[in-house]
Amino acid sequence: MNKTIAAVLVFATLAVASVALSQSFSVQMGANKGPAQPIKFSHKIHAGKLQMDCRFCHYGAYKSQWANIPAMSTCMGCHKIAVADRPEIIKLTGFWDRGEQIPWVKVHTLPDHVKFNHKRHVQSGFQCQECHGPVQEMDVVYQYSSLKMGWCVSCHRQNLNDQKRPATMDCLVCHH
Ligand code: HEC
Ligand code: HEC
Ligand code: HEC
Ligand code: HEC
Ligand code: HEC
Repeated sequence: MNKTIAAVLVFATLAVASVALSQSFSVQMGANKGPAQPIKFSHKIHAGKLQMDCRFCHYGAYKSQWANIPAMSTCMGCHKIAVADRPEIIKLTGFWDRGEQIPWVKVHTLPDHVKFNHKRHVQSGFQCQECHGPVQEMDVVYQYSSLKMGWCVSCHRQNLNDQKRPATMDCLVCHH
């Protein structure tokens, strides 16, 4: 067994414990399944009703390893005017005026020993919804897929012989 995998195994025990904890925690969050956020931002309104493209806010997912969370200037482009008198928008404007970041609660996390790259998956043609579910119908975003190794690997297995974009089962492609 090489050193990297041995290290992975050590991390693994920790990862399992923290995953178990965070999962039992998220179960207690109730009907919406996602964590309470500092501003009641709804994908169902913005990506659903208003039909905004995911790209408008999460361009990072198309261009880099990480999908960015949009800066407040993206919101304020509309909300300096749009429904500016509603309580949640007054709260939003408060963060903006004070020059504070909105402390959004992270929904998805992979353990540190795993490598994942958005651009690579998105550019090979996968829709966001394939992994994140029907986000445009979610008032509160929740983790739709397990993000377990078995989930990653089963899709990689189905795409092993793809001519244009063969996936791999190589441990070290996914693990540091
Ligand atoms: C108007 C901007 C906007 C649009 C459009 C938008 N999002 Fe988001 N997205 C956000 C913000 C802000 C957050 C952080 C707050 C939250 O989790 O609700 C977020 C969070 C997320 C998360 C969770 C991130 C985490 O913490 O793990 C996912 C997944 C996501 N968006 C996917 C999508 C998809 C898929 C689409 C298109 C169907 C989309 N978003 C469209 C602004 C947007
Ligand atoms: C393209 C314009 C646009 C952008 C960009 C946008 N919004 Fe909105 N947002 C709207 C409109 C229009 C509504 C009202 C929709 C309705 O009530 O049907 C709305 C509604 C909301 C509401 C609900 C207000 C309420 O109480 O009814 C919140 C909260 C909100 N937006 C937060 C945000 C945040 C945070 C961002 C940035 C991540 C953002 N919006 C980006 C146009 C936008
Ligand atoms: C092949 C599966 C897959 C696809 C396709 C995918 N994502 Fe993700 N997404 C993930 C995983 C896995 C994570 C957790 C990454 C981490 O924690 O390192 C994630 C995390 C995120 C986050 C949180 C920030 C981050 O980078 O960790 C956002 C926002 C997000 N995705 C948006 C999107 C959007 C928008 C699309 C479509 C353009 C998309 N994703 C396509 C699997 C996917
Ligand atoms: C829906 C199918 C699907 C899922 C789910 C998926 N992958 Fe992939 N992945 C692919 C395909 C197909 C490729 C090959 C893409 C290419 O070569 O353009 C790939 C490529 C990769 C690569 C190689 C990228 C590079 O830069 O060399 C890594 C690393 C990777 N995936 C990690 C993961 C991890 C980690 C997960 C789970 C958290 C995951 N993938 C989930 C389909 C998937
Ligand atoms: C397509 C990406 C991918 C490939 C290929 C992959 N892994 Fe993983 N692995 C993950 C992800 C994501 C996790 C974290 C989630 C979890 O623990 O299930 C993980 C977790 C693990 C863990 C922690 C165990 C656990 O249950 O938490 C070990 C050990 C591991 N991988 C070893 C390997 C070995 C050995 C290989 C090669 C035979 C391999 N992995 C190939 C994505 C991958």
